[in-house]
Amino acid sequence: MMNPADIAKLDTLPLHSRTPVEWARAVLADPIRLLMDHAFLEKKAANNALELLTRWPGDWLPGWVETMTGVARDEAAHLAQVTRILLRRGGRLDRIHKNPYANSLRLLVRKGEPAQILDRLLVSALIEVRSCERFAVLAAASADTELASFYETLFSSEFGHYRVFLELARKMTDAPAVEARWQQLLAAEARILADQETGPRIHSK
Ligand SMILES: [Fe+2]
Ligand SMILES: [Fe+2]
Repeated sequence: MMNPADIAKLDTLPLHSRTPVEWARAVLADPIRLLMDHAFLEKKAANNALELLTRWPGDWLPGWVETMTGVARDEAAHLAQVTRILLRRGGRLDRIHKNPYANSLRLLVRKGEPAQILDRLLVSALIEVRSCERFAVLAAASADTELASFYETLFSSEFGHYRVFLELARKMTDAPAVEARWQQLLAAEARILADQETGPRIHSK
């Protein structure tokens, strides 16, 4: 069960759609495939933080390098944890993995600066905030105590990541411009998620 502080945080998430518990019950019916998809997500998140640091090097925003390296470190730790659980349960990581949800979100990123980096930060925040919400629903629905407590830990961590990506975006430019783009992207995210196929994946419909 989620603790009361986490439940209060869950209520603050700005998502335009909410995941029903039926989704969690359905995906938890195939925990190995769910863990496999999850492992890729953590790997992609670690890569994303390092890629942002490569494309936009230096401390061009206050706390930039520290934040990106911190996110990369957290995501690598999540990858290690999820992989350990996966292997112990007889699963393995495949080399190839499709992530149509993240790909569709990435298509929303505008070209040209500063729009491109602003959108990259906001899309990163979107993926974090949705993952965070999904981990909360999984934590609440999972009868498997190891998975339930793992998902609850991830809820807190991804909540922190969503906040730091959004705060970095807000340091970039004037608040109304960031807010307007954030609201557009939140609306787009809910549509993209609703267009996904069902199945044992963190970002399925
Ligand atoms: Fe993570
Ligand atoms: Fe994260």
